[in-house]
Amino acid sequence: MQVKRFGVSLEEDILKSLDKYVKQKQFPNRSQAIRHLIRKNIVEEQWKGNNIVAGAVVLVYDHHKRELQTKSTRVQHDFHNLILSIQHVHLDHDNCLETIAVKGKAKELIKLANSLIAIKGIKHGKLVMSTII
Ligand code: NI
Repeated sequence: MQVKRFGVSLEEDILKSLDKYVKQKQFPNRSQAIRHLIRKNIVEEQWKGNNIVAGAVVLVYDHHKRELQTKSTRVQHDFHNLILSIQHVHLDHDNCLETIAVKGKAKELIKLANSLIAIKGIKHGKLVMSTII
């Protein structure tokens, strides 16, 4: 895609904040940081507007917990049309890390994520909101 240049006027304190952000997040330059911030905002709007989006549900749980995997499988089958792939990693003797890649309407993905994260025995769960563009 063609890159266009444009001038941006900023107050000194905002520019300082931007430079701090560039350093903290290890961006190579201001342009990359601004690009990141704009995309971040677009993604947030897409999720708020119930657009078709993509993301991942990350779950950590103890596989010894009774019924947990049965419940998780049941939820995943209820929302099977939204799930692209599932990766299961055995972290140690007890704990499993599951990464479920999802794509679909934002509200449905949030519903799926909430249903999974709320299962009794899930130690940590998070929905990573991303985009398909
Ligand atoms: Ni496991």
